[in-house]
Amino acid sequence: MDGVEESVYRPYNCRVIWMREETPDITTFRVALDDHEAVDAFTSFKPGNFVLASVIGYGEAPFAISSPPSQIGSIEISVRRLGVLTQALHELGVGDRVGVRGPYGNDFLLREPRGKNLLFVAGGIGMAPIRSLVQHVLEDRKSYGEITILYGARTVEDIPYKEEFKKWDRMDYVDIVLTVDPGGETPNWDGRIGYVPNTLSELSTSPTNCLAFVCGPQIVIKLSAEILSNWGFEDSDIVSTLENRMKCGIGKCGRCNIGHIYVCKHGPVFTYEEIRRMPDSDY
Ligand SMILES: Cc1cc2nc3c(=O)[nH]c(=O)nc-3n(C[C@H](O)[C@H](O)[C@H](O)COP(=O)(O)OP(=O)(O)OC[C@H]3O[C@@H](n4cnc5c(N)ncnc54)[C@H](O)[C@@H]3O)c2cc1C
Ligand code: FES
Repeated sequence: MDGVEESVYRPYNCRVIWMREETPDITTFRVALDDHEAVDAFTSFKPGNFVLASVIGYGEAPFAISSPPSQIGSIEISVRRLGVLTQALHELGVGDRVGVRGPYGNDFLLREPRGKNLLFVAGGIGMAPIRSLVQHVLEDRKSYGEITILYGARTVEDIPYKEEFKKWDRMDYVDIVLTVDPGGETPNWDGRIGYVPNTLSELSTSPTNCLAFVCGPQIVIKLSAEILSNWGFEDSDIVSTLENRMKCGIGKCGRCNIGHIYVCKHGPVFTYEEIRRMPDSDY
């Protein structure tokens, strides 16, 4: 519209075209980017970017894009039901409208992963951003070395992407290690039992030419990074994402900042070296 400034907060009017109930409280939604403007905006997104997803009457919230950039015309988000907006998203069905702003933030490719061995460590919903990067990497398998994915959930039924883990495990030089918290196992569970950092400490990944991506609750990031440091990983070779509470998502409201760092704009992806240097860092 001539003379009228476009609002930076205007969401694209998108549509749920596919859903999968991953666990009792996590559902993955594939949303179609229904107009050219939205498709153009997302053609250059990278693993690690996030969106603000909204439902009319319930507000909006940030979610990592969990699908790879090669998926043109739609994106996926995996949503853990927690409060008002996430409950409203879980009540949507195929064909329903959802608002999407983005893509926002920086990305995992801040450390070039090609030519390297990759270790992914994730807990809970932290697998959502990692899934985008794993799928991206596996589409060009030859460009990377050995890949290890350690994922932990509270219980067996809390593990999302079960079929994808099985598919990835069948690929050459991809090692999948699944673990559940003690007590969360079932009689026929053939994975590990133990918290993510404990299970990580039982692996033996060499830090040589290896990048580690660690996503999940703060305690998982902190304890896993300590283990990796003990193995000889440099803090700059450990990459993570922060999930500070956000409002605008674009560096304007000051809701997400840690000192002069705006997690929405300068992050959400940071090396562990950057995270430890943040003002009042608990890491
Ligand atoms: C960059 C980024 C990426 C994210 N990616 C994902 C994702 O891929 N999948 C996913 O399920 N969630 C993700 N989250 C978290 C998600 O944004 C929150 O779960 C969501 O905002 C909750 O909204 P709600 O209205 O349902 O909850 P509310 O009704 O606002 O809150 C319910 C409860 O959850 C707590 N809460 C809300 N947001 C957060 C938060 N960010 N951190 C800690 N506690 C919180 C509140 O304090 C309250 O106790 C991400 C967050 C960020 C910042
Ligand atoms: S969420 Fe508004 S400045 Fe980051």
